[in-house]
Amino acid sequence: MAEKAVREKTVRVRRAEVADLQRLVEIASHSATAAQWNQAEYLKLLSADNQQGRIALVVEQNGSTVGFIVARQVEYEWEIENIAVTGSARRCGLGTRLLGEFLDLVRQRGSKTVFLEVRESNLAARALYGKWAFLEVGRRKMYYQDPVEDALVLKFNFP
Ligand SMILES: CC(C)(COP(=O)(O)OP(=O)(O)OC[C@H]1O[C@@H](n2cnc3c(N)ncnc32)[C@H](O)[C@@H]1OP(=O)(O)O)[C@@H](O)C(=O)NCCC(=O)NCCS
Repeated sequence: MAEKAVREKTVRVRRAEVADLQRLVEIASHSATAAQWNQAEYLKLLSADNQQGRIALVVEQNGSTVGFIVARQVEYEWEIENIAVTGSARRCGLGTRLLGEFLDLVRQRGSKTVFLEVRESNLAARALYGKWAFLEVGRRKMYYQDPVEDALVLKFNFP
């Protein structure tokens, strides 16, 4: 119990900043199933973070950035574009925490729906989304390259 309290205390979710750019690229580059963007794309989305229509959060563990989530608003819905936790920090609940904090923000902004695409074979991510009650609502045939694979479209509706 005491050990759990200490561990939880060291986890923090905050807005991503331009200074996080290198770390985000690094985390994504070690996560083959994450969306791979170049530095310029990260810079653009981090710079736009304070504007409406984009949410980028990072999770820190013991002061180190170990994961992130990026989403954009598409009309009245939100699309999760990328989420990744560095390999050594996985299965500790950080993805769950990131997604939960993101959903809180979206709810506060009054949106009702979040959607995303995920590789069919990405069982870890699908389990994470399943934990938050995302439901499969569609399939995009051969959506991904290297390797070619279908995307499942998942949706979350706020009650
Ligand atoms: C998907 C990802 C972000 C999950 O992050 P995480 O911090 O490990 O997630 P959590 O520890 O909160 O796990 C949440 C749930 O997901 C499931 N899960 C996570 N990793 C899993 C794995 N390797 N196998 C099976 N289920 C897994 C479990 O149900 C877990 O809950 P539990 O530990 O209570 O059983 C992480 O695996 C990752 O960065 N993957 C590479 C990038 C990626 O594929 N992103 C998704 C793009 S759509």
